[in-house]
Amino acid sequence: NGKFLTMAIESSCDETSVALLLEGREVLSNVISSQIKVHQVFGGVVPEIASRHHLENINNVTTQALMEAGVTLDDVDLIGVTYGPGLVGALLIGLASAKAYAFAKNIPLVGVHHIQGHISANYIQYPDLEPPFMALVVSGGHTNIVEVENYNSFKVLGGTRDDAAGEAFDKVARVLGLGYPGGPLIDKISKEGDAEAIPFKRVFLEKGSYDFSFSGIKTGVLNYINSEKQAGREVNIANVAASFQQAVLDVIVTKAVDAAIKMKKDKIVLAGGVAANSRLREMLTEKCGENGIKLYCPAPILCTDNAAMIGCAAYYKYKAGFCSDLTLDAYPNLPL
Ligand code: KG4
Ligand code: ZN
Repeated sequence: NGKFLTMAIESSCDETSVALLLEGREVLSNVISSQIKVHQVFGGVVPEIASRHHLENINNVTTQALMEAGVTLDDVDLIGVTYGPGLVGALLIGLASAKAYAFAKNIPLVGVHHIQGHISANYIQYPDLEPPFMALVVSGGHTNIVEVENYNSFKVLGGTRDDAAGEAFDKVARVLGLGYPGGPLIDKISKEGDAEAIPFKRVFLEKGSYDFSFSGIKTGVLNYINSEKQAGREVNIANVAASFQQAVLDVIVTKAVDAAIKMKKDKIVLAGGVAANSRLREMLTEKCGENGIKLYCPAPILCTDNAAMIGCAAYYKYKAGFCSDLTLDAYPNLPL
């Protein structure tokens, strides 16, 4: 119908996903095959197993995405694919597939940074949203405050010095015996707990820094549980979860809003798996409201890993003149 059609592939961690989008923002299909159940028994993602499952799933997921969108490969104008950061073996499966289609059908190929993808989920959710804005990226692998000047230029103001936010949620959930992935479980059980029950330390680091450190609070939770047990007291899991969550979010929300004010941005966009957290959304809504900042948060399905967000990012890269060739490789530690 003359509209620009992008096909995108995401396979950086434990989700195999393929999406089709019109004009970069209109999602025709966004098929996500999650391996959570496969990795659950190990309490975390096992890289080798993830690669094997991507390989088993990628063709079926692609076929289903094309079918749901009602298009064929011959209609595709651009192929976007995540090339980093992520698990190298997992990334390679998506890349090999994207390159094969690009080569066979002579379709332009664009490699996408996974975090640029997460930020772009907001363009899908909000058709009128445009840069500049401040982005808060909180996922299982990343915690970043990013100044977004335009669709393809980013300035990372701060990041985590140890664990990512989602990683901290997952590790504490494991300590509390809640299961994997821990973020959504802590979110849920915290609603029944008292967030002020235990005063876990808020780690702000040096004045003016937008960096984070979450490994201390994980130890704090462990020490608290051990000391309660030693004293023969029963541990209230909901209170621990709620207090941990509040301590982590206090720091994240304070720094994100400070960054927006300091850099004169009147918008904050949320991105990454932890952006699905209900308490984070609540706190940010309140603090942004107080400071005249508009808050954008994608629907949870667009917050966690998916190919639609990668397709949107690929579209804007291509429009700006970026194009990859068939030598495109996987970069596990790709910087933004
Ligand atoms: O973005 P994502 O799907 O994968 C990465 O690129 O890392 O994020 C997954 C992370 C996991 O650590 C998971 O526990 C966390 O996002 N997560 C949450 C919630 N939903 C997912 N953390 C807190 N609250 C949630 N509701
Ligand atoms: Zn992600």
